[in-house]
Amino acid sequence: MNAEGRTQLDQMPEWLALTQHREGFGRTHLRRLFDDDPERAGRYTVWVGDLYIDYSKHLVTDETLRLLRQLAEAAGVAPLRDAMFAGEKINVTEDRAVLHTALRTPESATVRTDGENVTPKVHQVLIRMGTFATKVREGHWAGHTGKRIKNIVNIGIGGSDLGPKMAYEALRPYARRDMNFRFVSNVDGADLHEAVRDLDPAETLFIVASKTFTTIETITNAKAARAWLLGAFDGDSSAVAKHFVAVSTNAEKVAEFGINTDNMFEFWDWVGGRYSYDSAIGLSLMVAIGPECFGDMLAGFHLMDEHFRTAPFESNAPLLLGLLGIWYGNFHDAQSHAVLPYSHYLSQFTAYLQQLDMESNGKSTTRGGDPVRWQTGPVVWGTPGTNGQHAYYQLLHQGTKMIPADLIGFADPIAELGDLRDQHDLLMANLFAQGQALAFGKTADEVRAEGTPEAQVPHRTFPGNRPTTTILASALTPSVLGQLVALYEHKVFVQGAIWDIDSFDQWGVELGKVLAKRLEPALTDGADVSGLDASTTTLVERYRSLRGR
Ligand code: F6P
Repeated sequence: MNAEGRTQLDQMPEWLALTQHREGFGRTHLRRLFDDDPERAGRYTVWVGDLYIDYSKHLVTDETLRLLRQLAEAAGVAPLRDAMFAGEKINVTEDRAVLHTALRTPESATVRTDGENVTPKVHQVLIRMGTFATKVREGHWAGHTGKRIKNIVNIGIGGSDLGPKMAYEALRPYARRDMNFRFVSNVDGADLHEAVRDLDPAETLFIVASKTFTTIETITNAKAARAWLLGAFDGDSSAVAKHFVAVSTNAEKVAEFGINTDNMFEFWDWVGGRYSYDSAIGLSLMVAIGPECFGDMLAGFHLMDEHFRTAPFESNAPLLLGLLGIWYGNFHDAQSHAVLPYSHYLSQFTAYLQQLDMESNGKSTTRGGDPVRWQTGPVVWGTPGTNGQHAYYQLLHQGTKMIPADLIGFADPIAELGDLRDQHDLLMANLFAQGQALAFGKTADEVRAEGTPEAQVPHRTFPGNRPTTTILASALTPSVLGQLVALYEHKVFVQGAIWDIDSFDQWGVELGKVLAKRLEPALTDGADVSGLDASTTTLVERYRSLRGR
């Protein structure tokens, strides 16, 4: 039992049943699973909205899936999900509701937290964002000198950067091509330098995006951006009003920074940073793609929310994907999960998912405060295909580690590609071929049959039996992007619920922040470093000497 009287996960009969099932499963090969059950390719698929999800190339049988669903039942996934949608404070360590789903709920719906229906204020902000975005897009929001704004620079980090950046890259074909959109996050001055070095300050608008408006990287970059801007206007601080807007939950800090709160777009503490790009944090994206496309994206999110909320466990896509992750992470010792989009436009998708998944489920304490006795969130990694094929796929195919992977692809390349559309079949052939090779491999006999010298046979054999999910949609539209992101959000939710951890706090990022703040004076002014550990002291001294201090 844990502190709340819940049976510890690894003591639940459903968990023990899975442990036993895993023993019996042994090294059963996907080749055999397909031979024994020719129907599985059709049966192990789920179609949600525009996403066709094939999970047949997984090391599961009907029995595995049944046992996994029973675990989800026993672990209370459904009640926790319902509590989230109902605005209950399921982020227990911060005593907060978790209501990113309210950001994409139609205005007519009622979503209450602390007795207040939040949908009216969500839609008020969306309208303000839409008015602002349209003004900028149509050239009615002029800069200090009256010049049209052509460049948008989003300054934020973590959830205030990764989401808008990922979505902007994903939806570039929908974006205004006559404007520049750049994203600055790193406190390394090179990031801001490279983002603005070729821009005219008179045509540049900064969106400072920070939930707390206290994040050191963002505030440092925003101050530097203001200095860059004012440098072009002889220090005339009245220019700030036309070139800086803010997105935050913290009006006081926004005003303190010097941004008029009339130019601030609000969101709320029940939106977690990594779940926030469909809030005002997506302002830069909305300027890029316009309010209508942004609305289509929200509709895509909502479609997946409704699916997750209402679909039975048997056909509930986020639940299934979450359970498959549990099967590998907890019963096959898989340590990582690869997300491999076969779309250039999804170049930032895995980086975005790294925060979503690893900041949510990289925990080792249960909701009740006990140490966990089971594995939690995986290392999430990956880059767009086909580039990875010529780099790390070797390890995926023939390495010693089990790495389940998601292969994501689209049927239609964008029209703008013109003749380059012809390359799309080759791209998709690669996606399908990888799933096939990972699952079924190539046996020694098959290698021999090609006349391969015996000494080479072991090297050229592919064991296969490496599980993948294939996610296929007709095109990467704003709605499809919303569906995809919500799919992963809810998958992460399912896993956190089963592992009994708080997926919505992030205490693990705090220590490094505090230590960096403490160390900075030692680097700059030579403040006393005594009391530091010997390694860090030596590094600080070496750094100071390299900098001639
Ligand atoms: O340090 C982690 C974190 O708090 C993330 O959770 C968050 O997305 C990011 O920093 C940025 O925070 P803010 O939006 O408050 O600047």
